[in-house]
Amino acid sequence: MTTDEVQVQSKYDRSLAHYATVPRNDGLFRQMFVNEEVIASIQPGKPLPDGTLIVMETWYSPENLGTVFVKQKQNGEWQYGSFSPDRPNYQMRFSNSCHSCHAPFPETDSTLTKPLLEAALQTRQVQTAYCDRAGRTPCAPEAYIPDTDTAMVFLN
Ligand code: HEC
Repeated sequence: MTTDEVQVQSKYDRSLAHYATVPRNDGLFRQMFVNEEVIASIQPGKPLPDGTLIVMETWYSPENLGTVFVKQKQNGEWQYGSFSPDRPNYQMRFSNSCHSCHAPFPETDSTLTKPLLEAALQTRQVQTAYCDRAGRTPCAPEAYIPDTDTAMVFLN
């Protein structure tokens, strides 16, 4: 459990707050950020507000950052995108290939790490969850709830 404080930093031309780190069992880890503008309007248990921008870095090792994934809520729909870390590009579109993996989690507004986001904003501490599956395979939603010992619950 990291005790880093949630802090707004300037990253990829935006003001972003680091809210979660998710290590995976193959050594890579992900870091999730939310745009500063919406922080005050995020309410626990409610869908995320329009304009929410979530940026996710995938680190293959502490020196090796891969493609950055982004999603933004526009008119109630999640739009998706990606860019290389040295060339921020926030063009988003509805992508079935992204959505199909996220959509099975309506209880968290298609956002697996939403419980971590809410806990981070409440406690002001960056949250950590461990998902014991390779690559991008989703763990069961319980894995992304902070302070549970059910992180090893698998979907199938
Ligand atoms: C195979 C399933 C899968 C696909 C396909 C997928 N994701 Fe995800 N995504 C996940 C999982 C699982 C997480 C939670 C973090 C983790 O466990 O690594 C996540 C987290 C995210 C997050 C952090 C916010 C959140 O929802 O928790 C963003 C942003 C994101 N994905 C963007 C994308 C984009 C953009 C695409 C398409 C290019 C995409 N994802 C495709 C499984 C997927």
